[in-house]
Amino acid sequence: MATPRRVAVVVGSLRKDSLNRKMAKAIAAMAPPSLSLEIVEIGQLPLYNQDDDANPPAASAAFKAKIAAADAVLFVTPEYNRSVPGVLKNAIDVASRPYGKSAWDGKPAGVISVSPGAIGGFGANHHLRQSLVFLNMPVLQQPEAYVGGAGDLFDEAGGVKKPDTKKFLDTFLAAFAAWVERTAKARA
Ligand SMILES: Cc1cc2nc3c(=O)[nH]c(=O)nc-3n(C[C@H](O)[C@H](O)[C@H](O)COP(=O)(O)O)c2cc1C
Repeated sequence: MATPRRVAVVVGSLRKDSLNRKMAKAIAAMAPPSLSLEIVEIGQLPLYNQDDDANPPAASAAFKAKIAAADAVLFVTPEYNRSVPGVLKNAIDVASRPYGKSAWDGKPAGVISVSPGAIGGFGANHHLRQSLVFLNMPVLQQPEAYVGGAGDLFDEAGGVKKPDTKKFLDTFLAAFAAWVERTAKARA
């Protein structure tokens, strides 16, 4: 079997009991063998400061190196005030600089937004996509993944309880795996 594509999973919440982290873990366990999903942490990152471009903090350089080493990126994020949480935007900025040396450039991406609310983080999902356009990341378009009503989605073991959502996530993962493969071939 070919080596699995390495997918950096970036979670937009630092909360211990984060629903988005649960989703990231659940989806990592459900992923097809062609993908290897690993959460890349963002909570340790200092706030981005352009003055540090020539000599970035160690945590920022290490994060950037992990993104650079990945074949693809999957963002799993909550919506804060109808937009992207500041911690996630900070992580995006950190790995995007210095100008012309972005670690995100050309990497295929997917976006899943998760919320206890009814509209499933639609605002964050689309604000994030705005940044991904500039970062030149080809983003999976369909299926869109706005996971609402997530307050009671996970069981004690972290599995997805609702069969419909589980089925949808399988469909999403299959489409994402095909997208990563197609994009990798186009880049080769
Ligand atoms: C600062 C803040 C702003 C929020 N704004 C929104 C929002 O705009 N839309 C929404 O659906 N939920 C909003 N929420 C509720 C989050 O969806 C909820 O706290 C969710 O559990 C956060 O994701 P997490 O469980 O992964 O930490 C907000 C929560 C916080 C703390």
